[in-house]
Amino acid sequence: MDILRTKNVEQSIRDTEAPEHRLRKRLTATDLTVFGIGVIVGTGIFVLTGQVAKELAGPAVAVSFIVAAVVCGLAALCYAELASTIPVAGSAYTFSFATLGEFPAWIIGWDLMLEMALAAAVVAVGWSGYFASLLSSLGLDLPASIAGENATVNVPAMVVVLMLTGVLVAGIKLSSRVNLVIVTIKVAVILLVIVAGLFFVKAANFSPFVPASIPTEQVSGLKAPLIQVLFGLTPVAFGVIGIFSAAAIVFFAFIGFDIVATAAEETIKPQRDLPRGIIGSLTICTLLYVAVSLVVVGMQNYRELSTEAPLADAFTAVGQTWAATLISIGAIAGLTTVVMILMLGQTRVLFAMCRDGLLPRQLAKVHPRFGTPARLTVIIGVVAALLAGFISLGALAELVNIGTLFAFVVVSAGVIILRRTRPDLPRSFRTPMVPVLPILSVLACFYLMLNLPVETWLRFVVWMLIGAVLYFTYGYRHSRLAREAGS
Ligand code: ALA
Repeated sequence: MDILRTKNVEQSIRDTEAPEHRLRKRLTATDLTVFGIGVIVGTGIFVLTGQVAKELAGPAVAVSFIVAAVVCGLAALCYAELASTIPVAGSAYTFSFATLGEFPAWIIGWDLMLEMALAAAVVAVGWSGYFASLLSSLGLDLPASIAGENATVNVPAMVVVLMLTGVLVAGIKLSSRVNLVIVTIKVAVILLVIVAGLFFVKAANFSPFVPASIPTEQVSGLKAPLIQVLFGLTPVAFGVIGIFSAAAIVFFAFIGFDIVATAAEETIKPQRDLPRGIIGSLTICTLLYVAVSLVVVGMQNYRELSTEAPLADAFTAVGQTWAATLISIGAIAGLTTVVMILMLGQTRVLFAMCRDGLLPRQLAKVHPRFGTPARLTVIIGVVAALLAGFISLGALAELVNIGTLFAFVVVSAGVIILRRTRPDLPRSFRTPMVPVLPILSVLACFYLMLNLPVETWLRFVVWMLIGAVLYFTYGYRHSRLAREAGS
């Protein structure tokens, strides 16, 4: 049994040329950067900032953002090299197929569903929460049974997912135009927070910048971070350790720069523009996050920050309710593109997996008029809508982090492997300091994974086992590599 058969890079690139599987090439470096910002800026900055400042890091939450950005930056440099060498739709899935082999590639593709389809549903539920609260501030209250985290059927979440599915089917250039408009709104709102907020910053709120660490209630059993269980540590909040625990959570805020790589086949000059899009969007978001978090903890004492709408509520706290309403609108707009691009990334990864025969190949047909993988897009849309509509997803958000970090680990290792196995390939972008930098990236991602709860690890392992069973019952036999080897 050859589960480590690899697909060579030339073959991967040739597959993208087959007429019935060819995506339309329309995107530029600017489109990609805007795509990146569209998917990155979301729940993380609009919600998590308040929660982690209040519970784990204090004013030093800005440092947690920097720590998470450094981890992501290391991974981004690795993604940039592989994306410029293998500009094929599947991102981490395709990179693993070229470096580690078919089974690891399948496992990564399966894993990416956690990062994209699951995250799309999670963020759609958050979107519905903001939407309901904006309506209620306008005097329109939706019944709790059809909106919000505890709804029986989350109707707004389902509607937004299905509408965005329609946009995605209609074409990549339309999706990217819709994205540009919305990204402009959300970046404007973020800049408003920074500029308007500066007037209300009080130096006193910054001290102590790193609050002294205090023991927290021992989080019991399955809720405890794996690292604490492994090393028998007493959990503490604040202090230097708090900064790092907070970094593992705000990591969520950076998820998405890697999704830029899934648009490889739709990019006009992928070798040059993918690295620009990946690194550019990550850099811009890091600057915005650090500035926003500094302003917000400067406006309000960290102990008083709100955990649901910290940005808006900091303005309410200083009497500026007009800004609070604007920020809610920005958050709704912001979360919309996050959901849209997560689904876009998901269809492109599944598209690559179907094309390789690991999933039914008929699903990967490109729509003759729209030039998008329409069938797959609709399937993902319906699945994500059902997840968002009927399942309480709060508990599953950390699965998104672990799934993403796992993909980062594999991609970073992939850079070292491909340099050894295929030193000859043209690499328009080269990760600096190989193998030191990719090794650091693997270690840093793994450290953040260890900071996630035991129950997240268990769910992750179960999901991966289901994936393994599917591979051995379907993918292994239907794989195109298998059939080509047989004929
Ligand atoms: N980075 C995205 C967010 O913060 C997933 O919502």
